[in-house]
Amino acid sequence: MRRPLIAGNWKMYKTAAEAVGLAAELRDSSHRQGVEVLVAPPFTALSAVAQVLRGSHLLLAGQNMHWENEGAFTGEVSPLMLRDAGCTHVILGHSERRQLFGETDEGVARKAKAAFTHSLTPIVCVGETLAERESGRTMEIVERQVERALRELTADQVAALVIAYEPVWAIGTGRNATPEQAQEVHAFIRKRVSASHGEPAAAAVRILYGGSVKPDNIAPIMAQADVDGALVGGASLTAASFVKIVQYE
Ligand code: PGA
Repeated sequence: MRRPLIAGNWKMYKTAAEAVGLAAELRDSSHRQGVEVLVAPPFTALSAVAQVLRGSHLLLAGQNMHWENEGAFTGEVSPLMLRDAGCTHVILGHSERRQLFGETDEGVARKAKAAFTHSLTPIVCVGETLAERESGRTMEIVERQVERALRELTADQVAALVIAYEPVWAIGTGRNATPEQAQEVHAFIRKRVSASHGEPAAAAVRILYGGSVKPDNIAPIMAQADVDGALVGGASLTAASFVKIVQYE
């Protein structure tokens, strides 16, 4: 019922030429019936990658954006600009943005609303730090992040939304959550969405797991009832490993 989505977050890697090369490889080798595949290159490569991907199965996302259409916001990129560059999706509130660049729940909420205004599908990232998990606050943190990000969205928008649960301690560390740990938080998120936006929205919203997803650990994670896909960082940077993740059995 929920179509799986495998998303590659290229972070601050790859020049435009390198990104085009990887996108071309993925265009030719990452197709899988019934599975959506998405890449999020850096801003400077978006337009060039969009050209390579035109007419293909691959979806294109920005890694962040501002909520305004335009303005005196040095260094920012607007929803209009992402659309213009060929994006259909945008990653919002990634933990690196929250932790290293001071992004707040309120900012993420404004961005999510703006994304829908511009027909961009937001991928809203949430997740607890190691200290928060060890002090037993995982659900409290995730609940707050989800509640605030979704506060101004309609039930229809939430149904179309993608949420990515990415425990901060699992990102880029090689230490992934167990399938059971992922499922526990995903089920909790879906329950909270049901309470705030109703059962149909909760049944439709896709919840991706992210954090050290690799070809050899993707399958048991995808087998969990409330896991609808993966947000992949490091292992999305080569076609060989990303295609193996897309083709998980
Ligand atoms: P990772 O990154 O797969 O390298 O852990 C995931 C992410 O940050 O989205």
